[in-house]
Amino acid sequence: MAELVLALDLPDRDASLRVLDRIPTVGWVKLGSVLFTRTGPALISELKGRGLRVFLDLKWHDIPNTVQGAVAQARDAGVDMVTVHALGGPAMLAAAKEAAGNGMAVVAVTVLTSHSAAELGQLLGRAEAKPEVEVLRLARAARQAGVDGVVSSPLETAMLRAELGPAALLVTPGIRGATDPKGDQTRTATAAEAASAGSTHLVVGRPVLQAVDPAAAWASLQGSIR
Ligand code: C5P
Repeated sequence: MAELVLALDLPDRDASLRVLDRIPTVGWVKLGSVLFTRTGPALISELKGRGLRVFLDLKWHDIPNTVQGAVAQARDAGVDMVTVHALGGPAMLAAAKEAAGNGMAVVAVTVLTSHSAAELGQLLGRAEAKPEVEVLRLARAARQAGVDGVVSSPLETAMLRAELGPAALLVTPGIRGATDPKGDQTRTATAAEAASAGSTHLVVGRPVLQAVDPAAAWASLQGSIR
């Protein structure tokens, strides 16, 4: 069964722990750059102390030596999964995987779920770019470099599961219910759609954090993927 991951896109520690107190069934949390820049690794220890699995989503994209050092720090802090950008290239991805050792997963971001096809084309300097083609190309490169899986929108999950085989981790943000506001996400699907297409980790932020009743929103997501 796919894991639901709560994106702690909140301003500080107290706000994060308050949300977690309200939703005791959360098992995985994602700590991103906003909160981590505020709290540093102290919050990782605190979350681990609560028995949570921690996904540190800092999307590293730097020279191999620097990324290797950052991944080693995350490993030593007890993190369970980290992100790097597939565009960092094979040497950077291999360095990240080597530093992670066996206890921590490394997943590579392919194309951010906020990019539309038109914007991606502009960024790549092409008349046209198809996100799914770029995602597939980057996912193949990431697999060759030996990382554990990739991050993509739910619209590419089925293609990636077929391409990468049963063992790959497929981490999927861009989860939205039919009536949820999309916000800055453009390539979205429901949790049930992503899970049945083969996602292993469904990352959900605003649909839960901004719900009138976050616990009910979480329970409904859990029910939808069971
Ligand atoms: O609020 P929402 O459900 O859109 O949150 C999605 C989370 O997933 C955010 O923390 C965002 O940074 C992260 N993410 C993403 N797209 C990626 C990788 C991570 O939206 N490709």
